[in-house]
Amino acid sequence: MKEKIEQIKKQALAEIIEATSVEIAEELRIKYLGRKSDFTNILKSLKDLTGEERKTVGQLANTVKAEIESAFTQKEKELKEKSFDFAAEKIDVTIPAKKMKRGHLHPLTKIQNELEDIFTSMGFEVADGPEVETEFYNFDALNMPKNHPARDMQDTFWLKGLHANERVAMRTQTSAVQVRYMEKHVPPYRIIVPGRIFRNEATDSTHEHTFHQFEALVVDKNINVGNFKFIAQEFFSRFFKKDVKVRLRPSYFPFTEPSFEFDISCTMCGGKGCSGCKNAGWLEIGGAGMVNQFVFESAGYKRNEYQGFAWGFGIERLAMMKYKINDIRLFHSGDVRFTSQF
Ligand code: DAH
Repeated sequence: MKEKIEQIKKQALAEIIEATSVEIAEELRIKYLGRKSDFTNILKSLKDLTGEERKTVGQLANTVKAEIESAFTQKEKELKEKSFDFAAEKIDVTIPAKKMKRGHLHPLTKIQNELEDIFTSMGFEVADGPEVETEFYNFDALNMPKNHPARDMQDTFWLKGLHANERVAMRTQTSAVQVRYMEKHVPPYRIIVPGRIFRNEATDSTHEHTFHQFEALVVDKNINVGNFKFIAQEFFSRFFKKDVKVRLRPSYFPFTEPSFEFDISCTMCGGKGCSGCKNAGWLEIGGAGMVNQFVFESAGYKRNEYQGFAWGFGIERLAMMKYKINDIRLFHSGDVRFTSQF
């Protein structure tokens, strides 16, 4: 029986070495170690042997079985390595990487950055002021006397409590920063004030309770309306990246004298008239004027010592024009389907 086992081992190892594929090796495994193999029959017949013989033959059979098995394992490993498909595993390191999803700035922030860039390149400084404002800076200093009907123009969120015996409110206009800035600086200066403002009003597609304005203020000894028109035209042309004309219409604001509403030539049709401008050729932008001497006096300047122009209008409106957005409420909706388009 021992010879038989040795013979099987010799034959098995010889054939395993010759195996040329994983399939052939598997067939050999069944042939030599399978349930119906000679080797299995020998193992089954061990029980018929006497004690001593059973022990030695049993031991031999087990080591031979282990040897044959390890020869199989070795061969299989070899064959698998040989047949490994390197082409399929090839990595093309020159393929551009998959882009990671990143957040980005809110469209309003982008617009604000853009207009700050344009104005700083024209020598303007970016100024700032508080969103919770005293009645003085928001109204009184700007020539809106108590009980003056002009106060009704901007419904106000008044806050409970006082600040230094004054009423405080969420500021209704970036114009509130004018006198704050004047008090701390000596002309000449040119500033813009982009910022958030608040109005106590019902919302619809063109009105929000919280939105952004952008104030401009230029003060020196000899500033005139022509300076305003030039700066405005320059800004809007750069902002819309095309030639834009500015038109003034007489208007009234308590803090300017004279006051204007100003329009720009339609950015879609260039002034010929289209559905975007309701055939007017012009788009309404905002308010402007020559700084009322009353405002300079509020800041402690002498009457008629300086002249200046100021303007103020909504940043949302500008963004809506640039990106053709039809509902102002989208900006603060927090809806990523909207914000991710920019
Ligand atoms: N503060 C005004 C408003 O909110 C807009 C405005 C008009 C600002 C004329 C100005 C200006 O600086 O000169 O309606």
